[in-house]
Amino acid sequence: MAQRNWFALCLAILLGIPAGLAAQQIAGTWKGEQTLHRGTQTINLESTYIFKVDGNNFTGLLINRSDRRDIVDGVIAGNDITFSTRNPFVPDAALQNFKGTLDGDKLTVVVVQTIAPPGYPDAVGRGPRRPPVPVELHRISSDTVYHAPPELQHSPLAPFVTLPPNGLALTPPMGWNSWNKFRALVDDKGVRAAADAMVSSGMKAAGYVYVNIDDTWEGTRDAQGNIQANSKFPDMKALAAYVHSRGLKLGIYSSPGPKTCAGYEGSFGHEEQDARTYAAWGIDYLKYDWCSAGLVYSADEMKPAYEKMALALRATGRPIVFSLCQYGDLDVGSWGFAAGGNLWRTTGDISDNYASMTRIGFGQNGREGAAGPGHWNDPDMLEVGNGGMNDDEYRTHFSLWSLLAAPLLAGNDLSAMKPDIRDILTNRAVIAVDQDKLGRQGTRVAQSGDTEIWLRHLASGNAVGLFNRSEQPQSMSVRWSDIGVARPRHILDLWSNKSVPPADSMTVTVAPHGVVLVRVN
Ligand code: GLA
Repeated sequence: MAQRNWFALCLAILLGIPAGLAAQQIAGTWKGEQTLHRGTQTINLESTYIFKVDGNNFTGLLINRSDRRDIVDGVIAGNDITFSTRNPFVPDAALQNFKGTLDGDKLTVVVVQTIAPPGYPDAVGRGPRRPPVPVELHRISSDTVYHAPPELQHSPLAPFVTLPPNGLALTPPMGWNSWNKFRALVDDKGVRAAADAMVSSGMKAAGYVYVNIDDTWEGTRDAQGNIQANSKFPDMKALAAYVHSRGLKLGIYSSPGPKTCAGYEGSFGHEEQDARTYAAWGIDYLKYDWCSAGLVYSADEMKPAYEKMALALRATGRPIVFSLCQYGDLDVGSWGFAAGGNLWRTTGDISDNYASMTRIGFGQNGREGAAGPGHWNDPDMLEVGNGGMNDDEYRTHFSLWSLLAAPLLAGNDLSAMKPDIRDILTNRAVIAVDQDKLGRQGTRVAQSGDTEIWLRHLASGNAVGLFNRSEQPQSMSVRWSDIGVARPRHILDLWSNKSVPPADSMTVTVAPHGVVLVRVN
């Protein structure tokens, strides 16, 4: 323990203030080691806590395996402490509340509450999912300044500038991505099978182009630092050639951080080299996922960190669609395009259930200003066909994503797709709404109880979605003048492919969790 702390302790005892001040001995850097058991797996987690004490209050930093969190609202009361952690990229929301107890030179801390990210109201205030495991901390120094280990240091990033458009993704990207269905099981064979199925199912003819490999393809770097695929992908260049031979394009995945979200090799410190490797392989699309980048970059560095890869991709001379994935933090819609992005995720990860899909989908209202040809909001990939929703719910998913001008990246097993799922994913009239060349993202124009009406202005006419979020069928009406639409001459129901007789208003029955999507001209 540093001399200063001993001095404070002795002084406290001499002055007869034994409780309270003793706890101020927490100032400094502490190391925690934790062993977690997950099924048959044993995980050893190391964490570093830095406490900066000011009277009975403190702030600081918590460094975990994959992120760095601010410690805020720390309070010392006797030998007990409480504090919260925050994600520096979502500064207005706490992540976890902790309590702790100092006992000699051992400090034990435990999570008392995990707080859901903004936009996830049903989980707010829930306790941790597993019983919290207390972490025992041991002081390693009285220093309160964070010194990043050499492998996490970097030279300053170039100042952020507004990049000109790259001319790609003039309509929202369409394709497939491996993550939602296959996670770590994606391999060369599965990607080829997806490409084959994209052609044979009619999806390619309906407009799907990109076959995107998500996380877990990465291997180690060679002696020159070149990234290599792992054993699941024996020859990336040959795979790209195969996908291209089917008239499709190949996408890949990386992170600006040292590790991807699944713990594989990221692009940190190798951005230009990785971009050149992707171009040499024949890659056409990169999803660049923040993951562990918070370990190496501050909030101010997020924009230039994305721009760095945008510039690296452009420097290769190969047209590569650039997809930002940082969960919508720091108002990405206001700078994603300027950073060279063609699309950016606006939320955390989707799951294959109606609650998750609708929380994300209906939560997109208000973001429409950021979308347009070449730059799209991305409410995450499709779950259509993954089995957790019924066909009405999947039609709601596909309709909503089309009204939102969202990327249409199927996330199911295309080789084993049932005809009803194929029919949803290849509905050309709905796809035409998504791909409308005006590129205007739709908005909510009416809401009452469990029903919502969404409107998207198209190059010719409008698309209108009547959504029933309840569990009973609902009769829904829309008076065109109420939503600013001229009395139509033609109305086509895009799922039944039937004309609706035009009048001043339209009344339809909408299935539970279902939608009626019409195009009015
Ligand atoms: C994050 C992303 C997902 C997926 C995984 C892969 O969670 O948001 O879409 O790419 O990482 O590890």
